[in-house]
Amino acid sequence: MPTRFDLPADFRWGASTAAYQIEGAVDEDGRGPSVWDVFAARPGAVRDGHTGRTACDHYHRYAEDIALMRELGLDGYRFSIAWPRIQPTGAGPANPAGLAFYDRLVDALLAAGITPLPTLFHWDLPQALEDGGGWLARDTAYRFAEYTEHVVDRLGDRVPAWITLNEPFVHMVFGYALGTHAPGRTLMLEALPVAHHQLLGHGLAAAVLRERGHQVLIANNLTPVWPAGDDPADVAAAAAYDALHNRLFTDPLLLGRYPDLSAFGVAEDLGGSVRPGDLKLISAPGLDGLGLNFYNPTRIAAPIGPELPFTEAEIADVPRTAFGWPVVPDSLRELLLGLRERYGDALPPITITENGCSVEDRVAPDGTVDDRFRIDYMASHLDALAEAVAQGVDVRGYYTWSLIDNFEWAEGLGRQRFGLVHVDFETQRRTLKASYAWYRDLIAVHRKRFRS
Ligand code: FCB
Repeated sequence: MPTRFDLPADFRWGASTAAYQIEGAVDEDGRGPSVWDVFAARPGAVRDGHTGRTACDHYHRYAEDIALMRELGLDGYRFSIAWPRIQPTGAGPANPAGLAFYDRLVDALLAAGITPLPTLFHWDLPQALEDGGGWLARDTAYRFAEYTEHVVDRLGDRVPAWITLNEPFVHMVFGYALGTHAPGRTLMLEALPVAHHQLLGHGLAAAVLRERGHQVLIANNLTPVWPAGDDPADVAAAAAYDALHNRLFTDPLLLGRYPDLSAFGVAEDLGGSVRPGDLKLISAPGLDGLGLNFYNPTRIAAPIGPELPFTEAEIADVPRTAFGWPVVPDSLRELLLGLRERYGDALPPITITENGCSVEDRVAPDGTVDDRFRIDYMASHLDALAEAVAQGVDVRGYYTWSLIDNFEWAEGLGRQRFGLVHVDFETQRRTLKASYAWYRDLIAVHRKRFRS
């Protein structure tokens, strides 16, 4: 059986982070407020009242963090650009000091031999745009394309490939349907225009990038969906959930159409938001790669109430992460093969843009962090990935979530640690975990194998 040691010679090793989760420095150098600053300030919104005000202080410590990446031997680093640093109110000219930060970051990465892979939107919308409707407003898609132009004009000479959006599904559901993330709206199915406007923003930004000769990816959170039983009601519920979680954010890009959401009582125009020509704008620029953020499979049963056509069911008898997420590594292989089956030749090469787990990591008195659970998680997922590759799925790289422990959204700081590097949020001290050494060795072994 193929394993992680059999991945192809040009397979790329990386790690991921996101601006609001690591940077801090929320009011420095002209940065405007984002929806996350405003949301986190609401009492009860984030556990223990934490915010991203300081987070990992990466804005000031990026050189130290890049040294950690270089030691690790990374080929690539996925980070996100904070829109409110570039356009404090989400419109108008670029803020030179904001661009200058990412300029320094990109130069320092290149000097360390690491390819920058920026994400243009990882959930930190300028609050001024939220005040105008956020992603419920069509105009936000056009603002996103303008912001993209500012960034690409400045960094495009050194950055070959870009990720437009991070997990538009999660942003829509947590941010606009359930209200557990910023901007904290509770619109349930009325949040669906947010799907369309994000995808339209992707399409418009992708056109800007493509015109300038850049490669374009999107990072989608995808999950294999398992019906809880053979009962047709469970099977139908699973299909409905699959349409919402997976197809809604991938079919328009690869097939130029929306999936059937009639089980939700939703028409094809997604609440009136889809206009003639939009699907062409979304699909026409094409994708050079599909970024896949993968954490766990999902088990779905027939609905228990009238609100939604599904209910989530427990996956029993499997290990769980500190977050409670089920660990089923082979489901990554299943997902990759399923994508190839579903999209055939329309499927671009895949890059795993996030994969990892939270563990209750503690620094032992001798200064070590024994996160064997994370090593097992990563090793088993990489083996499953290698099997999919051996079965013909084109996967180009693996970016683990995350390089360092960080601000985990509604869970705040310190509860859900996803890093290869432990962060003490009081002192900002970084401590390498066992998984850091393990990943470093894996990358080194892979390189050596193809050099000799
Ligand atoms: C993903 C997010 C990322 C991180 C991980 C744990 O949904 O993209 O920012 O929070 O989950």
